[in-house]
Amino acid sequence: MKFSAVRRLHGEITVPGDKSISHRSVMFGSLAKGTTEIHHFLRGADCLSTISCFQAMGVAIDISGDIVIVHGNGLHGLKKPEAILDCGNSGTTTRLIAGILSAQDFEVTLTGDASIQKRPMKRIITPLSRMGARIRSLHNNDCAPLVISGSPLNGIHYLSPVASAQVKSSILLAGLYASGETRVTEPYLSRNHTELMLSSFGADVHTEETTAIIKPAKELYGQKIEVPGDISSAAFFLAAGLMIPDSEILIRGVGINPTRDGILRVCRDMGGKMELLNIRENGGEPTADILVKTSVLHGTEIGGAVIPTLIDELPMIAALACLAEGETIIRDAAELKVKESNRIEVMVRGLSAMGADVSETDDGMIIRGGKPLHGAVIDSHLDHRIAMTFAILGCCAQGETEIIGAECVNISYPRFYQDLERLTH
Ligand code: S3P
Repeated sequence: MKFSAVRRLHGEITVPGDKSISHRSVMFGSLAKGTTEIHHFLRGADCLSTISCFQAMGVAIDISGDIVIVHGNGLHGLKKPEAILDCGNSGTTTRLIAGILSAQDFEVTLTGDASIQKRPMKRIITPLSRMGARIRSLHNNDCAPLVISGSPLNGIHYLSPVASAQVKSSILLAGLYASGETRVTEPYLSRNHTELMLSSFGADVHTEETTAIIKPAKELYGQKIEVPGDISSAAFFLAAGLMIPDSEILIRGVGINPTRDGILRVCRDMGGKMELLNIRENGGEPTADILVKTSVLHGTEIGGAVIPTLIDELPMIAALACLAEGETIIRDAAELKVKESNRIEVMVRGLSAMGADVSETDDGMIIRGGKPLHGAVIDSHLDHRIAMTFAILGCCAQGETEIIGAECVNISYPRFYQDLERLTH
């Protein structure tokens, strides 16, 4: 797919539902007693993988447009699937389901696509095994396929070496079934959607600083959930609105949970003009409409506790920094290397191909902004966030940019290109 400079972006959009929250609503709904009704569900490939895994374990799930109805089987109602569970491209599906499966009374094999089979699973195998889980990496490489034989679990206090909501959530879900309390302490607080949503489903879970604490549950209860727009999807239009001349975009209904809103803080630091309007809350998740206008941007430094709050937005932020005056330093972001692609390497290569002055570091990158950008051929490595980042950057560069594997946006934002196109009129 090809992109070239656009004159301006103007108008209103509503981005699809939050990916993290959509996954969790199906998972917790499946484990609950009664019906869970989910509105503004993200019908992207990743969340559909979660649905098909739970359907394969005997949960009845109806989908109609962006409304999903989950007829929960109760905490102990999952059935042994007849075949291997396929998590597709989804790390969230793989790691969170592994926590749940560790406590069932059957054996399952869990796998996914080529990218999933390279992503590190030791980070969940280690803590879940300490709880008593029996998990084996089929090829002995600490990656999927994983064979999980459910067993009785005990609560632990896990000091996680990484700030990862997938790791934390996997352990907390196992903790629902463990004897005694389970605690997870992170170096920095990662997104807390699991804690908020499990609590609304009736679980005894709370947070003390960077420690999440859960007690075993007797039952969860079905809920009605309104999924906020995904700030990680809104990020592309936020950045586009700031960078492209003469632009003004209103992005409606975006989730602004403080464990996810780092991009807003960083864009403001860089001189971005953004207003949060109509702030409201649903199920503990704050939401706002975001009005963004073209701005003069300057470089910044990003590291430490803010990193988990914008981890998925770093590719777009790195691209934004190329159009800002001065230097931007991104550090403490080594986790980018183990996402759907190695996002440090892929970003540095792609930005350099477009004429940016950027260098790779051990845990991030340094971008010297303000250089004119030109079009290039960019391999997305089938990483949805890389494809969307370079599509936006292609709209700011001289000449033509071609994205290889552009269709991978169906993972998290199936109608991304149509929404972008609509804002150019
Ligand atoms: C997610 C957590 C993050 C994020 C991913 C979704 C989640 O991963 O990058 O897209 O839903 O819990 P890590 O927990 O591995 O940082």
